[in-house]
Amino acid sequence: MNATAAVAAAVVPAAGRGERLGPGAPKALRELGGVPLLVHAVRALTRSRAVGLVVVAAPADGVAGVVALLDSHGLEGKDIRVVAGGATRQESVRLGLAAIPAEVGIVLVHDAARPLVPVEVVDAVASAVRAGAEAVVPAVPLADTVKRVEPVPGGPEPVLDTPDRATLRAVQTPQGFRRETLAGVHAKALAEEGAADGTGLPPVTDDAGLVERFGGRVVVVPGHEEAFKVTRPLDLVLAEAVLARRRAADAY
Ligand code: CTP
Ligand code: MG
Repeated sequence: MNATAAVAAAVVPAAGRGERLGPGAPKALRELGGVPLLVHAVRALTRSRAVGLVVVAAPADGVAGVVALLDSHGLEGKDIRVVAGGATRQESVRLGLAAIPAEVGIVLVHDAARPLVPVEVVDAVASAVRAGAEAVVPAVPLADTVKRVEPVPGGPEPVLDTPDRATLRAVQTPQGFRRETLAGVHAKALAEEGAADGTGLPPVTDDAGLVERFGGRVVVVPGHEEAFKVTRPLDLVLAEAVLARRRAADAY
């Protein structure tokens, strides 16, 4: 078998501003244990033997800086490319996907904002795609009960209903896809956005959501609590604690 076809490529959307994290550098460049979130996330991917290439979608005005940053953190020996990201996560993923060589058959998409994903999750997602799934998401059960509401800024918000928690999952990344599936749904979404009649749907917050929108089949594999997304300031506190625990464990 062609070696390139057997190995997955990963797209890392890293072009967000991190507004919910508060003022400061773009989120992917904020530090965790003295190392930018993006570097943690890229390392987590390159640690997996399933991943042969990583394409980072960087803030459009920060491509050269991101290249230098990855080099300065000892990632220069890996096959890592950096492209300019877009205005939405969906666009950033599409631009990253366009930089992957045509012969690569499996693509993972991993948020730069999930720096601590264990390599076992990366491997499990890639394996499930290799085993035949067209779209795979890692996910964990929810701790909280969830209610659907009618949004009212400032509240109070009327509750519509309470979905059965046992059927709900919080999804993470990396999400894995057959390349043609992912490229196909991104192309369709782009065509829809361009529709002049204004019926275009809003961008999705994860790639599996696009596969679902166009009728594809998505399956869930177990995620990991340490694959959480750094979104708000408290997430950074938790991430620092997880990293400190790992470093202490490695020291023994
Ligand atoms: N992302 C991206 N391009 C965008 C927006 C988001 O590549 N235009 C990336 C982020 O860099 C992040 C991932 O998508 O790695 C998940 O998005 P999110 O957690 O929402 O990050 P931000 O958009 O940066 O944060 P916020 O929504 O709080 O501004
Ligand atoms: Mg965002």
